[in-house]
Amino acid sequence: MKRILSVASECAPLIKTGGLADVVGALPAALEPLGWSSRVLLPAYPGLLDRIERGVRVWHDDDLFGGPARVVRGKIDGLKVLLLDAPHLFARQGGPYSAHGHDHHDNHIRFAALSWAAAQIAMNGTTDSWKPDLVHVHDWQAGLVPSYLKYAGANIPTVMTVHNIAFQGVVGADQLDAMRLPTWDFTPDSLEYYGLLSTLKAGMVHASHLSTVSPSYAQELTDPDFGFGLQGVVTARRDRGELSGIINGVDTTVWNPETDPEVEPYSAAQPEGKALNRQKLLKEFNLPEPTGPLAVVVTRLTYQKGIDLLVEALPSFLDRGGAVVVLGSGDAEYESALMDLAARYPDRVGIRIGYDEALSHRLYAGGDIVLVPSRFEPSGLTQLYGMRYGTVPVVAATGGLRDTVSDATPERLADGTATGFTFGDAYLGGRIDAGALSFALGRALDLYADPQAWSKLRSTAMDQPVGWEHSAQKYSEMFDNLIA
Ligand code: ADP
Ligand code: GLC
Repeated sequence: MKRILSVASECAPLIKTGGLADVVGALPAALEPLGWSSRVLLPAYPGLLDRIERGVRVWHDDDLFGGPARVVRGKIDGLKVLLLDAPHLFARQGGPYSAHGHDHHDNHIRFAALSWAAAQIAMNGTTDSWKPDLVHVHDWQAGLVPSYLKYAGANIPTVMTVHNIAFQGVVGADQLDAMRLPTWDFTPDSLEYYGLLSTLKAGMVHASHLSTVSPSYAQELTDPDFGFGLQGVVTARRDRGELSGIINGVDTTVWNPETDPEVEPYSAAQPEGKALNRQKLLKEFNLPEPTGPLAVVVTRLTYQKGIDLLVEALPSFLDRGGAVVVLGSGDAEYESALMDLAARYPDRVGIRIGYDEALSHRLYAGGDIVLVPSRFEPSGLTQLYGMRYGTVPVVAATGGLRDTVSDATPERLADGTATGFTFGDAYLGGRIDAGALSFALGRALDLYADPQAWSKLRSTAMDQPVGWEHSAQKYSEMFDNLIA
């Protein structure tokens, strides 16, 4: 077996704030049949060490950025992990990045430490004689791994996967020393990002190969409107043939309406159970049966996710008989806008503010429509969960949403290839705004009124191959080219 060290700050089901965790947690099992054995290095956040089976210390450092650290190897829920136990950095209350709504002041040091430990393991191996053939790093939290390897003169291949270019790991240049980075490399071609230091950029520049999580997002990232100042770096790597865009899959063992413990079982062939899930969901949120479709939203409440567009577009959908249930957490302004909407439409709108994995499954199972009006979306998983659960996606035509949802045009409805509704495709002269979203919702309402057409659309969506098989093959080919 070829060996991969995967380095990330999140990994489902152990620690998750978004899709990054789903991907990091699912890729190892998808790559295994293709000849890749993975170990995932992540911080030992509180509670994780208690869950590890047969934990063995395989690495240590007396001074990892200000305190002693060790790496414990073992299995949690079948996943081979390396937990970086560094209490001075990771034994903290709250989520992986923040507590009580405030980011930890030393996040740049915490994740520099994760990256440093990864680089040491990549170069010298662990005490159980394990050494990777390739290092796969995810997002800004692991962005410094390729840089540390480069400064040490190691030539082990690395892949940097950008899950979201909006998060760049930016700090002041006065932190270079504390992060064990050389001042000589603080240049615009390397660590410097408009006078500051960006760990995402460092990884994007120094990794052997750059990848992102959909073909459309890979293309979008070369555009100033999407590149968040890093479009030049992406374009340069693309021009050298060093950029890949590989769409995310979903873990079809976890996300399966036939076996999901949160769900009354159903399938594309036997969809009857879905109606029961819908009834239960309406009941859970105290909503009467709507005449139109029940839409669901499962999301971080941020600018990226287009929540303001949703709040603007929903009234006309609700007035025409639709209903909506939202599960989300994030920015206070969006939370209160949604609460206001619920107050205006008490019989049509259900809101749950918070993060609730089990409830998210009940939403995907109970909805008729899953709404994803993102301004940008590198890959997106919620539309895939929706499709798998027969909950038809209504999505902005951007990034991975554009790559995974086939719009219900009359032609595609006729030839049976439609899987949902898209709006605002820039390539077709469209714009992602509330008007375009309203129009798409109107089309969905119209089609829902035709039960036969709707059930065909739903079953086509459910039949889509949203698992990891195809994408894992692409990752495997990309990795093979690098270790060749
Ligand atoms: P992103 O990573 O940008 O948030 P994705 O669509 O890739 O977007 O992944 C989001 C993941 O997080 C999905 O698994 C989704 O079900 C989950 N999720 C988002 N918000 C919540 C929430 N409030 N409660 C439970 N799960 C959530
Ligand atoms: C990011 C993106 C999302 C993607 C996820 C996993 O959080 O916002 O689109 O699905 O990473 O790659």
